[in-house]
Amino acid sequence: MRSKTTDKNENLTRRNFLKMGISALTTLSLLEISGVSLMFMQPRSLEGEFGGTVTAGLVDSFAIGSVTEFPDGRFFLIRAHDGGFLAVYRRCTHLGCSVNWEADQNRFFCPCHASSFDSNGDVENPPAPRALDTFPIQIADGQVIVDTSQIQNRDAFAPDQLAYAAGEQG
Ligand code: FES
Repeated sequence: MRSKTTDKNENLTRRNFLKMGISALTTLSLLEISGVSLMFMQPRSLEGEFGGTVTAGLVDSFAIGSVTEFPDGRFFLIRAHDGGFLAVYRRCTHLGCSVNWEADQNRFFCPCHASSFDSNGDVENPPAPRALDTFPIQIADGQVIVDTSQIQNRDAFAPDQLAYAAGEQG
């Protein structure tokens, strides 16, 4: 026959063991939750995608009179006939749909309400009220760098919107 004192001691030990187990699990869960929260709170680098700077490529890798799409950066890089560069945001200035570049028609076309824009992003066909927005371009060490964190509104195309590599200004 077991004594009452022994039963009491065993109960206490079991209870303590359970308590320790529960607090260990709770501590582990809290650590995991704070770890996951920290992961989400860390500033995320937007290098190479929309909202950050995109290194598009070497100046000479873009043919004169070409339009190159950068889907992750959400822009088209235009190389004009005089060698200048223009980065246009793909968001239509009517209601924000994504425009497509139609090389055979030499135009940007919005599938939502059929606005079209010429090869500088200027409105050819409404309802779009103004030219496609642009992003600032820097040309450094022969590389074309587009800053997609700064959307620049414009009413229409003007030649001073083009960016040139050193010594190439048309
Ligand atoms: S959203 Fe492009 S034409 Fe309406």
